[in-house]
Amino acid sequence: MTKSRDDSREDREDVKQSRHDPGRRKFLKGVGIAGAGAAIADHLWTEAEAKSATPETLSGTVKVVLDVNGQKREAQVEPRTTLLNTLRNHLEPAVTGPKLVCDVGTCGACTVLLDDKPVYSCLVLAVDAANRKITTVEGLGTPESPNAVQSAFVENDALMCGFCTPGFVTTISAYLKKHPNPSLAEVREACKGNFCRCGTYPRVFEAALAAAKGNQA
Ligand code: FES
Ligand code: FES
Repeated sequence: MTKSRDDSREDREDVKQSRHDPGRRKFLKGVGIAGAGAAIADHLWTEAEAKSATPETLSGTVKVVLDVNGQKREAQVEPRTTLLNTLRNHLEPAVTGPKLVCDVGTCGACTVLLDDKPVYSCLVLAVDAANRKITTVEGLGTPESPNAVQSAFVENDALMCGFCTPGFVTTISAYLKKHPNPSLAEVREACKGNFCRCGTYPRVFEAALAAAKGNQA
């Protein structure tokens, strides 16, 4: 089962500790990823350890079929490959809306919706996302037909460098679907898993509230 972003945040301390150990097995344990991907990876490691592994023994790949923004997309990846890495580097054309920043589940720049729920795609294995509905910022709207949150971000000038923006837009879009009339405090709480290093928070929150109003008009 894939962890939600709230669960993921609780695991951060473990993840921080695992940063000092480059071993993938400890990393997987650190983030607590369960399911097929972790099982395959653990199996590979167990075998590899028994045979004093060389890089070649871990070089296998598997085919995954991902449902990205309503399209079936195929990729050939190692079992340990994250969903974020797969979207950005193993699809042709690539899906680059979700951004790689911390890669350890702390910043939210990589946020995508998995079955309509925000997750950090840097903490989800691609093999665990197979046959599930993946929505990235590209799937929320287009430049010609943006959704309310995307429009509000433009109108409220809610970005500086823009690197965090896809994550915020994705998080807020999912939140407003469930909570159409939030207060400022609720919007701030909803965005607690997304960091903006440029400090554009006030405009981000204004945009979220404007989008909520626009949706109701
Ligand atoms: S890149 Fe995934 S949370 Fe930062
Ligand atoms: S606008 Fe630069 S990190 Fe948020």
